[in-house]
Amino acid sequence: MARRIRGTLKLVSVDKPNIDRIMVSLGDRSYPILIGRGILDRLPELLKRTGARGAIGVVTDEQVDRLHGQAVTRVLVDAGYSPLVATMRPGEEQKRLARIDEITGAFLNAGVDRSSAVVALGGGVVGDVAGFAAACYMRGIPYVQVPTTVVAQVDSSVGGKTAVNHALAKNIIGAFHQPAGVLIDLEFLSTLPERELRAGLAEVIKHGVIADEKLFEYMEKQSAAILAKDLDALHYPVRRSCEIKAAIVSADEREEGVRANLNYGHTFGHAIETVAGYGTFLHGEAISIGMNAAGHLAHSLGLVDAAFVERQAACLRVYGLPVQWAELPVEEALAAMKRDKKGRTGTLKFIVADRIGHVVHRTDVSEAQARAALEAVRTGA
Ligand SMILES: NC(=O)c1ccc[n+]([C@@H]2O[C@H](COP(=O)([O-])OP(=O)(O)OC[C@H]3O[C@@H](n4cnc5c(N)ncnc54)[C@H](O)[C@@H]3O)[C@@H](O)[C@H]2O)c1
Ligand SMILES: [Zn+2]
Repeated sequence: MARRIRGTLKLVSVDKPNIDRIMVSLGDRSYPILIGRGILDRLPELLKRTGARGAIGVVTDEQVDRLHGQAVTRVLVDAGYSPLVATMRPGEEQKRLARIDEITGAFLNAGVDRSSAVVALGGGVVGDVAGFAAACYMRGIPYVQVPTTVVAQVDSSVGGKTAVNHALAKNIIGAFHQPAGVLIDLEFLSTLPERELRAGLAEVIKHGVIADEKLFEYMEKQSAAILAKDLDALHYPVRRSCEIKAAIVSADEREEGVRANLNYGHTFGHAIETVAGYGTFLHGEAISIGMNAAGHLAHSLGLVDAAFVERQAACLRVYGLPVQWAELPVEEALAAMKRDKKGRTGTLKFIVADRIGHVVHRTDVSEAQARAALEAVRTGA
């Protein structure tokens, strides 16, 4: 059975009730995203695509391992694999080169080789670290993403961007390495802390703003069910986010054009994360403030009216997300933005909306306009 999804040309086939299968179309590196409830037993099917035999390097963090590690290793053992579980402490500060070194050591000791594969079990931090480890280990071995946070399920597990941070900039040491498959079991979200849930929803709202007003409206209207963690209510926004991201990545894997749309709110947001330091904001929280800054910028550029800025901020606020930061060090944030890799041409590049569901790229934004947008989210004006 197949049906056409509004707003994209991607075909989505549903192979079992309530399991969605979305393809990321990249020629011989194409891969499926499976989405559903209680679908962990489909993991071996995705691993088979890698041709892996024997050892499987499962990279996860201690918290996810405690909650879900056993269930995953059981599925792997039942399918005849020998899982090695390499854990790291949870948190963004673990996203650094030292972890790659450790994981490499664990893989070598366990006999992970070119006939093996990696499973990234966790949030975006684990996904980015495990993906980068898989990209580097023996010059690249396959991996499967098993995302367990909203951020990871709607964003980071799809698209093949892997990286660790440097003290001076986020995600600056990395590689494009597409997974062989993505397994999204919504049941993982039942153990996710509420703050993490809310932060992840910022990326869903972002997908609505950049590509789909209907998704945005759904987020406006269904906040009660979503915040109550009704997994059926979460299914549509997770699936729709994956469809949007899959379509964009399929069209522009290397971010030469349309993929930059996904960076909406991120030019400001990454700068906010950098100047705030680890531990102040979750990624999605910083992006929420960044989206509000992008809204103010779009308004000052004459692309949207004040009602747009307020509507976007109201939707973010409903999910308890910050849209203002009174302590924002504006000049430091501007400097961080200029250092950011997306500004490598020397000009700052911004993704701004001209309505809910559509964005444009602007490279003509002056430093004064960027500063004013940061000032607006600092003062909450
Ligand atoms: N590669 C990409 O395209 C991409 C896209 C978006 C974000 N990212 C990256 O993702 C990272 C943020 O990811 P994140 O928000 O998932 O953070 P995270 O990986 O740090 O996970 C958040 C916390 O939730 C815990 N956790 C994870 N799953 C859980 C579960 N099911 N139940 C209970 N606790 C659970 C983790 O242990 C951790 O403490 C950032 O580093 C960001 O740069 C990457
Ligand atoms: Zn993000």
